[in-house]
Amino acid sequence: MRKNALRTAAAIGALTLGIGLTGCATGSTGGDSDGDTAAEDITVGVAMPTETSERWIADGEAVKSQLEEAGYEVDLQFANDDIPRQQQQLDQMITNGADILIVASIDGTALAAQLANAADKGIPIIAYDRLINGTEDVDFYVTFDNYAVGEQQAQSLLRGLGFLDENNEDTGQTDPKTIEVFAGSPDDNNTKFFYQGAIDTLQPFLDDGRLTIPSGQIDMDTVSTLRWDQATAQKRMEDLLTSTYDGGAKPLDGVLSPYDGISRGIITALENAGYGSTLEAGLPVLSGQDAEIASVKMINDGVQYATIFKDTRKLAAQAVEAATAYAEGEEPEANDTETYDNGVKVVPSFLLESDIVVADNIASLLIDSGYWTEEEVAAGVAQ
Ligand code: GAL
Repeated sequence: MRKNALRTAAAIGALTLGIGLTGCATGSTGGDSDGDTAAEDITVGVAMPTETSERWIADGEAVKSQLEEAGYEVDLQFANDDIPRQQQQLDQMITNGADILIVASIDGTALAAQLANAADKGIPIIAYDRLINGTEDVDFYVTFDNYAVGEQQAQSLLRGLGFLDENNEDTGQTDPKTIEVFAGSPDDNNTKFFYQGAIDTLQPFLDDGRLTIPSGQIDMDTVSTLRWDQATAQKRMEDLLTSTYDGGAKPLDGVLSPYDGISRGIITALENAGYGSTLEAGLPVLSGQDAEIASVKMINDGVQYATIFKDTRKLAAQAVEAATAYAEGEEPEANDTETYDNGVKVVPSFLLESDIVVADNIASLLIDSGYWTEEEVAAGVAQ
């Protein structure tokens, strides 16, 4: 059987592909080292969006190393946030004989032609962290519970502002606070989940007047940040400071930020406008996402208040598990078959959980788990 008939084999529930299965259970290290595995002779194309963010470098490395450990050949490509480049990389992977694709898209709607081509060749397609929209040709989705991530972002902001305690119970604080809100890239399907989760969590405090957004900007399109770009976020914060805060003379207590790179851009704008360089010195409370090393250092140093830790090693393991299921002619196991409708179909998904990181739990969540070392946190650089 042609090995690239994996999707067909999975669809008809074939038990083996005749490529020397050991029968071992699917798992992140599902292959064994004697070479006689489902992974043997299978190439997995892994398309990552960019190397400008620590997060995606970590994902790329984790997926590659875990796939290789399980015995697969890996073709890993980063696209520098350039959509045509990602399209070309996928075309090339397919031409080069990829048997399975794992794709973290830049624009979730821009890959239909490439994926149709892959589907024609029977190549299973696993969407990685970001759902691919508007196409039949996405078989499985591994991600985090993105709505819950948004809730956690808002919870961390509310904790930093004193409205919630660490169990997310209302502290009863009535002292009103001002915030501004940012969303991620509008072409990333995750953005609306993060933003909805966050706004739903902030809404009661906006309703009872304990929180206000002085700029009035809350509509997702208005507050979004194309490509999650740090400089774009810095510019929008600068514009807000000029339009609404007298260039930094008026108080601003907090900013909802959906990603650490965006947080760093916002912090630069706030520092330049004279809000101080630490929370203690008057910097507004900021949320984040991804536990990027530069931002973990800033949290440790009392500059950024919080981030959301999404363990890329676990996400990578889940992607490898899905790939292994396809390699063995089976369907991956989903834990959500309702939430992720890509406009053409509901994509079976596996959702992981995330954690709020603040200064106090950097050690327990990030260092003890081996995600970052103490030295990396002190330096703010991955080693
Ligand atoms: C999202 C992802 C976030 C963050 C962001 C910017 O798709 O879920 O964790 O990495 O992209 O890269």
